[in-house]
Parts: sequence; C-alpha cells; structure tokens
Amino acid sequence: MDFFELMQKRTSSRKFTGEALTEKEINQILKAGALAPVGSNRYGNVHLTVVTDKALLKKLAEASQIRRSNTQEMAAIINNVSNADEILEQANAYDPFYDAAAVIFVSHRKQDLEPNIQWCDVTSVVLAMHLATIEMGLGSCYMWFALDSMRRIPELDHTDLLQLPEDFEPLLGLAVGHIAEPLQERDLDPMRIGRTFL
Ligand SMILES: Cc1cc2nc3c(=O)[nH]c(=O)nc-3n(C[C@H](O)[C@H](O)[C@H](O)COP(=O)(O)O)c2cc1C
Repeated sequence: MDFFELMQKRTSSRKFTGEALTEKEINQILKAGALAPVGSNRYGNVHLTVVTDKALLKKLAEASQIRRSNTQEMAAIINNVSNADEILEQANAYDPFYDAAAVIFVSHRKQDLEPNIQWCDVTSVVLAMHLATIEMGLGSCYMWFALDSMRRIPELDHTDLLQLPEDFEPLLGLAVGHIAEPLQERDLDPMRIGRTFL
C-alpha cells in the first residue's frame, strides 16, 4: 500500500468482530513495533505485553469504568434525565478496550537519564504497530485512557497483573482486532495542524 493511501485509511477502530488474531498476525505487529525508532537506541528500555485474556482485560478496565461513572459530568446527566439507570448501566459496561482481540501494552523502564523520553519511545512503538495493523487490514486503537485511569485510581491499579520486568511501567497500549468492513481512504484536512515556516 502506498504511504499516503495507508495514512488516509488509518483510523482508530473501536468495534471489532471478535475473531481471534493468529500468532502470525500478532508477531507481525510486534515486529513493526520493534522496527520503530527509540531514543538513544535503548530498545532494552521498552517492553511489549500481549494480552488476549479477557478476564485480565476486565480487571484492567475497572479503573476506567469507575472514572467514567463517577465524573461530575455523569452525575449532572443522571440528575437531569429519566433514563439514569440505563446510563449507569452503560457506564459499568464500558470497555476501554472495546472488546478487542488483543491489547498490546507498551511499557518502559523507569528512568531519569533522559527525562520524559519514555513517552516518546512508547508513542513511536505504538504508532508503528498501529500503522502495521492498517496495512494488514486489521483495526486498532491507541490505549491511553485505561492506563491513565489506573494511574489516577491507585486502589484499582491492577497493572501488576501484567507481570512486567522489574522497574518497568506500562505507559501506552494498542487494542487490535479484526474489523467488519475494510477501512476506506478519508479526505482529511492537511492543514489541521498549524504551521510556521521560518
Ligand atoms: C496518544 C494517544 C492516546 C489515545 N488514547 C485513546 C484511548 O485511550 N481510547 C480511545 O478510544 N482512543 C484513543 N486515542 C485515539 C484518538 O482519539 C484518535 O486517534 C483521534 O481522535 C483521531 O481519530 P482517528 O485516529 O480515527 O483519525 C488515542 C490517540 C493517541 C494518539
């Protein structure tokens, strides 16, 4: 696929068919991640965790569900509408992983040598895997909210279940799965990010 065709087909998928990914597909996505650039060539600082275990994803979704259902916004909505029960039920059923076939968590070694480079590293790796899924005809979506929710609600931080190597923390993820319809090229505004030429 031509690069700009790929970029125009690229979108965040939040609905998946439920079909499992093959080992070959998962390995292909992980390969793309490993081919991405990381700061100072420190690939040993990045770790990938593939989670297909639904029970584990359910645990990792708890903080997101609480965050969604406890917001002031949610309370305001509930006070003003007749279908409050329905809204609450939806909030509890909220799945930050969209029932994806797999979520690939990208973790980084805790470090102060190059402050904040960990965020750049994991984003670089996730973007490469995201683009690979588009090329493979799969769907995927960056996963920030679920991990951020666990950082904000330490009581519901179940990231220990990811069994990461010592001194690593999960910073970003990618939910991946099969999609019902092939992605179509989108006509996006190339001027949507501001520019300055100096
Ligand atoms: C760093 C980053 C984190 C994101 N986290 C989430 C997330 O947690 N959940 C989600 O549904 N989408 C997430 N997204 C997807 C964005 O909402 C999406 O890329 C943006 O709205 C543009 O839509 P598009 O990707 O379909 O073009 C994230 C995207 C990025 C780049």
